[in-house]
Amino acid sequence: MTTEVYLPPDTLSRPDRPAYEELSKKAEEDPIDFWAGIARELEWFQDFQAVFEGNGVTGKWFLGGKCNIVANTLDRHAKTWRKNKLAIIWEGENGETRTLSYHALNREVTRLATVLKSMGINKGDRVTIYMPRIPEQVIAMLATAKIGAVHSVVYGGFSTDALRERMMSAESRLLITADGGYMNGKVVPLKEIATEAIKRVPSLESVIVVKHIGQEVSMEPGRDYFYHDLMSLKLANLVQTEPMDAEDPLFILYTSGTTGKPKGVVHVHGGYMVGAYCSTKWVFDIRDEDRYFCTADPGWITGHTYVTYGPLINGATLLLYEGGPSTPYPDRWWHLISKYGISIFYTTPTAIRGLMRYGDAWPKRHDLKQLRLLGSVGEPINPAAWKWFHRAVGDGQCPIMDTYWQTETGMICISPLPETPLKPGSCAKPLPGMGAEILTESGEPCGPNEEGYLVLTRPFPSLARTLYKDPEEFQRIYFSKFPGKYFTGDTARLDEDGYFWVIGRSDEIIKVSGYRLGTAEVESGLVSHPAVAEAAVIGVPHDIKGNVIKAFVALKPGFSPSIALEEELKAHVGHEVGPIAKPESILFMDNLPKTRSGKILRRLLRAKELGLDTGDVSTLEE
Ligand code: PRX
Repeated sequence: MTTEVYLPPDTLSRPDRPAYEELSKKAEEDPIDFWAGIARELEWFQDFQAVFEGNGVTGKWFLGGKCNIVANTLDRHAKTWRKNKLAIIWEGENGETRTLSYHALNREVTRLATVLKSMGINKGDRVTIYMPRIPEQVIAMLATAKIGAVHSVVYGGFSTDALRERMMSAESRLLITADGGYMNGKVVPLKEIATEAIKRVPSLESVIVVKHIGQEVSMEPGRDYFYHDLMSLKLANLVQTEPMDAEDPLFILYTSGTTGKPKGVVHVHGGYMVGAYCSTKWVFDIRDEDRYFCTADPGWITGHTYVTYGPLINGATLLLYEGGPSTPYPDRWWHLISKYGISIFYTTPTAIRGLMRYGDAWPKRHDLKQLRLLGSVGEPINPAAWKWFHRAVGDGQCPIMDTYWQTETGMICISPLPETPLKPGSCAKPLPGMGAEILTESGEPCGPNEEGYLVLTRPFPSLARTLYKDPEEFQRIYFSKFPGKYFTGDTARLDEDGYFWVIGRSDEIIKVSGYRLGTAEVESGLVSHPAVAEAAVIGVPHDIKGNVIKAFVALKPGFSPSIALEEELKAHVGHEVGPIAKPESILFMDNLPKTRSGKILRRLLRAKELGLDTGDVSTLEE
């Protein structure tokens, strides 16, 4: 198989930076020493005694060490000249701007941390954050972590039920939200949604509301407080950053799995901090002179690791932009890149494909010469989109880091580094210290270019420690299929040059516009409608979104198919699960194909839809 190879521009060779081969060799020879060395580039309250204790790829890291990710995100920089450096440049969708230096960010985080403590939030307590993309979203995450509490960020586009379910699961004591946010020219009434959501969350004691859009909101005395009122209180003793055990939880992030309920992926202070730090440094080669823009929302893992923690631990200046890429025109991002002199830009294939549709004229209108590195994440990037991004946005000069990873891995696992020769559509090789293989169903290594299951074979510090309150499920999902290895749930192939090509999910997860959805979540959204008896959903390839959802629905007696009902069901799922989960189309059927044991045969529906071989249907019910 011949593929085009793009070589990095000469300007990227940096003599002061260890090359991929050098780092990988070091990691191979002595992984313990390798990871210990990286960890010790950061500050610890107390050094660790053991680097790793575990079994296969899973275990504990930096045992006996005391740290806090915030000590490395803020305190460390606030002690140096970087206190004067911009940490966050923020622009709202309506054009408002704000900046925060490391000093200012540290001050705000410390004040909020002190407020949280004074409200009785302690180490280990869960705090849910449901915010628009504004500096207070990042401030809330860091303030929670600073006092050793555990944040659970819920994406501001999620519905009432999704928010409620996540708060109930985490047994959150506090919710930090805002009156509302702007997204794609519309107002999202966050507080209104939150007020509805918390009605059945018995653990919830208080709500902090940031005034952002200036809309009147209902406030319940004794439970709801305005952020700005709390922050203007006279605070006597500002809190210090809490020393945490390296294995203490930092956050829970809910993501879709193969069951109807979202899984709470748990990451810890020590290992996650080390992973976020080194991967940002290696892949994005972040330097003090850079300005970095990752378009993700902190409500997703990319926003945790590569908007918030990774760039800030590395002392970078980041741009946080509240809104959508096409508001008011499809050059908003290009405008931001030129306005703020962005040098590193990280986004998703869906966004690239969406903007590519509008043609070259939009990026060409702006001076994008400051860019030196581009990144892609969340789904496979097709070569046509890769090439457009490379040419029209990067002027053929900026390598694209196609970064493969997951909520569970916390950090990038497979990606080029800036000096790696690139093949459009391939995420290149495992990062230094990481190992990946492609296996057959029986666990044998696949041959070159043979499609198989992607597994991770070596321990690395930022792998999730557990699923919140469900350690058995954690073992079952990731470590039972191929014992001793981490099963990603993806299929991929490995070419003759050792480059990985991710194909897609092998399980009941669908990636729609890069967002992760479980078939069961969407199906339970559908069957919660009074007209629906049974539902099955599948992913169908789509030019821009990667995949869209097609639903198959059997109605209850007394209901009949209609366009109006189809629209109603789509809106119902949008409301119950979230707008991303809305099916693109719905096919009404009298009965859904099932096995004799009653399991809906999604595989058969998918094969029929895509014109594939329907395989073994011997278990099909008559
Ligand atoms: O299927 C893979 C896909 O996204 C999944 C993880 O989704 P999530 O936990 O939401 O995290 C997304 C951001 C890290 C993976 O199992 N995926 C992620 N990055 C890539 C990718 N597929 C292909 N290429 C990528 N670069």
